Amino acid sequence: MRVLILGMDGYLGWPLALRLLARGHEVAGIDNLYTRKAVEEVGSASALPIPSPEERVHAVRDIMGKDLDFIIGDITKYSVLNKAIRKFKPDTVVHFAEQRSAPYSMIDVKHANFTMRNNLSGTLNLIYAVKKANPKVHVVKMGTMGEYGTPNFDIPESAFVDAQIGGKSDRIVVPKWAGSWYHWSKVHDTNNLLFANKVWGITTTDIMQGPVYGTRTKEITDDRLFTRFDFDGVWGTVFNRYCVESVLGMPLTQYGKGGQTRAFLSLEDSMESLRLLIENRPNDGEYRVVNQFTEVYSVRELALIAKEVASKNGMSVEIGEVDNPRVEANEHYYKPVHDILPALGLKSPTRNIRDEMGVILKDLQKHKSRLAEYKDAIMPEVRWKD
Ligand SMILES: NC(=O)c1ccc[n+]([C@@H]2O[C@H](COP(=O)([O-])OP(=O)(O)OC[C@H]3O[C@@H](n4cnc5c(N)ncnc54)[C@H](O)[C@@H]3O)[C@@H](O)[C@H]2O)c1
Repeated sequence: MRVLILGMDGYLGWPLALRLLARGHEVAGIDNLYTRKAVEEVGSASALPIPSPEERVHAVRDIMGKDLDFIIGDITKYSVLNKAIRKFKPDTVVHFAEQRSAPYSMIDVKHANFTMRNNLSGTLNLIYAVKKANPKVHVVKMGTMGEYGTPNFDIPESAFVDAQIGGKSDRIVVPKWAGSWYHWSKVHDTNNLLFANKVWGITTTDIMQGPVYGTRTKEITDDRLFTRFDFDGVWGTVFNRYCVESVLGMPLTQYGKGGQTRAFLSLEDSMESLRLLIENRPNDGEYRVVNQFTEVYSVRELALIAKEVASKNGMSVEIGEVDNPRVEANEHYYKPVHDILPALGLKSPTRNIRDEMGVILKDLQKHKSRLAEYKDAIMPEVRWKD
């Protein structure tokens, strides 16, 4: 299969390229290297140093014996995407190329606007480029479980749900209640993709994914193949941040009492889920919504796991209680449905989170001095109410 990855330089885009190449697919990718610059903007950097795009392509050739086409370009420019799709002729396009930090989107009006423009415009360009070049292309769009917020109902794996309003029933789009401009940009993307599916029948897999943790996948066997790993208060997801804090001996930055419950998965399980969804496309014209996660924890439970594993690895850490910078429920019901990926064969979770944390700590320890250099960027500075 021919797969075009938008956002191939990112935390998920890079290991997905490796996974698909290892499976024998032909892969090309586009990236404007925006995340590298935006992480620098907040005074941080990837914990694991990552090679330049040229070095990445060389490493893939040396280590895996595979060719990879890495296009530097901005998908908010229609001509860039249109040209790549016409030239590469993908069967599947995976769309990761978005501003993906909730705190970054909440910094101020400039960052809120950038998030909306970048994310919505990239997705609209993709819709039009596919419609024009080949409407049979399978669009795999990465959304987020955060589109739903924390509803008091089980989160379905479906675009529509039966509802009764004022005594009458209808099938309506599943209600969403996102928690940041970033998350709302994903909801708007979903609505735009649903509309494109209704009008032009574009075959879509809309993935609602939980936060990912980890440094390794089956293919990342050499330091030159590492993917980025963010840990600062703006770009780091919670468990990855706890891992860096453990290495640095800092208190774990649990927000509030830590009752916020979310659906998580390891980098390896994220790649395996994506592979299954790409290799098992929906029927032509179908809109498939998938909840992508393998484990559900509160951030307090994650902090306790991190403390336990850190201690087994000779690191003594305390759980801190940081004033929650976000506006979110601290205790709530949380139950997403998870049927589609197991039905496709996902055996989850592949690795125990405690074993996985041991691997992460080992990788991070080699870069302890680099982590210490960016220590000041770890505490959350962006407050939703400011
Ligand atoms: N990492 C997670 O835990 C997680 C969880 C749920 C959903 N997601 C979503 O998955 C996707 C990938 O996440 P990630 O963690 O790999 O993020 P990332 O920031 O590491 O990767 C995104 C890549 O897209 C590129 N990009 C952004 N805008 C672009 C544009 N206009 N043109 C070309 N390239 C552009 C960036 O430079 C970056 O390399 C994102 O859409 C994110 O919202 C991530």
